[in-house]
Amino acid sequence: TFTPNAVVEEIIADMKEKIGNDKVVLGLSGGVDSTVAAVLLNKAIGDNLYCIFVNNGLLRKNEFQSVLDQYKGMGLNVKGVDASKKFYDALAGLDDPEAKRKAIGNAFIEVFDDEANQLKDVKFLGQGTIYPDVIESVSATGGPSATIKSHHNVGGLPDFMKLKVVEPLRMLFKDEVRRVGASLGIDPELLGRHPFPGPGLAIRILGDITPEKVAILQEVDAIFINGLKEHGLYDKVWQAGAILLPVNSVGVMGDERTYEKVVALRAVESTDGMTADWVHLPYEFLMKTSNEIINKVKGVNRVVYDISSKPPATIEWE
Ligand code: XMP
Repeated sequence: TFTPNAVVEEIIADMKEKIGNDKVVLGLSGGVDSTVAAVLLNKAIGDNLYCIFVNNGLLRKNEFQSVLDQYKGMGLNVKGVDASKKFYDALAGLDDPEAKRKAIGNAFIEVFDDEANQLKDVKFLGQGTIYPDVIESVSATGGPSATIKSHHNVGGLPDFMKLKVVEPLRMLFKDEVRRVGASLGIDPELLGRHPFPGPGLAIRILGDITPEKVAILQEVDAIFINGLKEHGLYDKVWQAGAILLPVNSVGVMGDERTYEKVVALRAVESTDGMTADWVHLPYEFLMKTSNEIINKVKGVNRVVYDISSKPPATIEWE
């Protein structure tokens, strides 16, 4: 049987022995894995763990500040770096999904490398790699660590990648990570968060990215996600989000015709993201959500619900 407390003790002892009095740098993503890894390392080596949390401008509404505050409240030695502009610049004019992913991965590496280089005498890179990532070697859902693995810079590795890697979660499955996190006293809300892709809202805005489109999608997404929470539906869904489509549709407002954006809502059930079914959200909820989005979010006049399963569709639209 799996006993979280014993596992926590074992991991902490192992990390202490491996790291000694050296320093570790770790990228936090706001997700479960990097958070639990950071808390374990913090317990093992205290403020010799330096966490970096990068705002790529593609997170959910208000998420950078609220998650940063939460990290600080947990006693983590964390630096928040707002690099939104750098990411928007890197994305300007790109509409191909893989080109967007590559631009985001490279921008992340640059920001992280700059920050890591400002720290003196760091010996280790902490990562939230979990067991399924180890066996697949490439993570489908990981945050910073997955990005780093799949986007090696041309012209040599960035400096931080020359560090020795420590991976406190490398023997654990996802549900075990959650149980370890709970036994460490991490907020259940954080541990129960839906997966969120590393490239964030960039792959939920079909076509090119602008700060204005991001702002629209953040509003729509917040109404949808908060609605799921308010209606007790959030924990019944594996992942949910909104997609900003690159089409305008005709609508009416008073006596005026409008010609504005269409958004799609997506909510799926899944166990690992490999296959997924769309969730039969209550019509009442969909009606309320659609009305709220169209009434409150300027620039959107139509909401559709995605009723496709994976396969043959995917969870994300790009
Ligand atoms: P798909 O769309 O392939 O998504 O059915 C499966 C899971 O992977 C997430 N996803 C990503 N995660 N970087 C990530 O870190 C990515 O580029 C990426 N693309 C998709 C998606 O959100 C879902 O959980």
